[in-house]
Amino acid sequence: MPTRATAIAGANIAFIKYWGRASSSPLVPLNSSISMTLDAAHTTTTVAFADDYADDSLTLNDAPAGAEAMLRASRHLDRVRALAGTAARAQVVSRNSFPAASGIASSASGFAALTVAAAAALGLQLTPQQMAALAREESGSAARSLLGGYVEWDAHAPDQACVRQLAPETHWDLVDVIAIVSEAAKPVSSLGGHALAHTSPLLGARIAALEAALAQTRDAIARRDLAMLGEVAEADALSLHAIALTSRPPILYWQPATLTILHAVHRWREEGLPAYFTIDAGPNVHILTTRAYAEAVAQRVRALEGVSNVLVCGSGSAPRLTDEHLA
Ligand code: DP6
Repeated sequence: MPTRATAIAGANIAFIKYWGRASSSPLVPLNSSISMTLDAAHTTTTVAFADDYADDSLTLNDAPAGAEAMLRASRHLDRVRALAGTAARAQVVSRNSFPAASGIASSASGFAALTVAAAAALGLQLTPQQMAALAREESGSAARSLLGGYVEWDAHAPDQACVRQLAPETHWDLVDVIAIVSEAAKPVSSLGGHALAHTSPLLGARIAALEAALAQTRDAIARRDLAMLGEVAEADALSLHAIALTSRPPILYWQPATLTILHAVHRWREEGLPAYFTIDAGPNVHILTTRAYAEAVAQRVRALEGVSNVLVCGSGSAPRLTDEHLA
């Protein structure tokens, strides 16, 4: 009889982003990051271990996973197996709540859900901190998805305190309106981007500005101050892309529609609509606003040329286990 468990975990959007590594193993980021866990963009994952499975298998959104995803999942399962002292192979079935090729990063919610489900299936009693430290090794941003609400991943803290909740999801009705521009795979993975960050002559300037940006972000969240948060989040996203653009070789994540949205957000703000943008390592734009304005923002975004899909996400809770198994 296989032993199995199913977990649901939210993706997250970083206001201050992780970009660049001080060390890859163990994974130490160059800087601390702060994010909001998302409610409407989540991954559900069932993991079943059995001694008679010949190998690990992974089904993603109802199709067999590609080689790269399989390798990452297996490598991550090895970390959990090592803790449990087992060599049993696993059958993993995973589904995202967001469209398959939406261009939304699924690795944060994916590796958070995989960690929680695999640990539970093997009977490990791990704290969210311990699971964040594990998840971080495969996907840095996944560490933040082990907690709900507003979360800081501290670059300097010991493993047992690597992530902390700055405020619960009920603290503030902040909304992330995600404008999907392209469903194509990005030209350079986050992994490749982290590795190239050191080649940018601007990296020192980014790092020097980060402590103040982190402090402003913590303050803005505590005060529920969208303008204060939006200003620092926009600056941080542009700083990350400045690093990418000036890496060698350069990485250009934006598409023409990306820029159309950035200009539109500034125009809407001048017109009195409180909206601020942030952009991960890809062409899609996340627009930060509050619940009262979310529908107005979503409507305007849908009307822009080059936007193929729009997702509206509020602040979500920590991962949870469920009895509704996918397999
Ligand atoms: C730009 O190393 O977490 O989203 O595992 O591919 O998702 P993946 O990447 P990861 O880097 C995330 C980079 C980022 C910023 C952030 O979320 O902090």
